[in-house]
Amino acid sequence: MSDVQPEVLISEEQIDAKVRELAARISADYHDVENLMMVGVLKGSFIFLADLARRLTIPNSVEFMALSTYGDSTTTSGEVRMIMDLRHSVAGHDVLIVEDIIDTGYTIEFLQRILKTRRPRSLRTCSLVEKPTRREVDVQIDYLGFDIPDVWVVGYGLDWAEKFRTLPYIGVVNPEG
Ligand code: IMP
Ligand code: MG
Repeated sequence: MSDVQPEVLISEEQIDAKVRELAARISADYHDVENLMMVGVLKGSFIFLADLARRLTIPNSVEFMALSTYGDSTTTSGEVRMIMDLRHSVAGHDVLIVEDIIDTGYTIEFLQRILKTRRPRSLRTCSLVEKPTRREVDVQIDYLGFDIPDVWVVGYGLDWAEKFRTLPYIGVVNPEG
C-alpha cells in the first residue's frame, strides 16, 4: 500500500508557474495595503502558503487556523469543526484566506462566515485547486489555481489519510484500492 505511486495530475513545474502567477496578481491587487494578512487553513495549505507568501512583493503576515470536517479521510459530511483559532485579531486587516482545495465548499463557507463576523477591512479567498463538479454550496473564490475533475488528489500539502503530503507534485490516488 505504501509503495503506491500517485499518478501525476499537476506537475511541479505547473504548480510553480501557477503560484508565481497568483502571487503576481495578489501583489498587484494589494499593492497599496499596509499589510496583507494571509490565513492558512491547516494542515493542507501549509506548503502552498509557504511558496505563495515567499513570492509576494507586498508586506504580509502569516496566520494559521485549523479546521476539520467530520467523516473519514475521503468523505466530507458538511459539518465543520474549528480545531485551532487564530492567534491575532483580524479586525481592520486585509485578510486573504489560503486554502488547498475546495470540494463541496462547506469548509470555506464556514471559514468565510466566521471571519466576516470579526470585521476585517477586506476578506478574499485563494485556493490552489477546486473540484467544480462537487460543489454543494455557493462560495466566492477570488484567486484560483486549477480546476480538477472529481478525483482524490494528494501531494503539495494534500493528503490521503495523512499520507503523501510532501510529494512535490499533485497526483491522483484511487481510495478504493
Ligand atoms: P469541502 O469542505 O468539501 O470543500 O472540503 C474541503 C477539504 O476537504 C479540503 O480542505 C481538504 O482538506 C479536503 N479534501 C477535499 N478533497 C480532497 C482531495 O482530493 N484530496 C485531499 N483533501 C481533500
Ligand atoms: Mg483543507
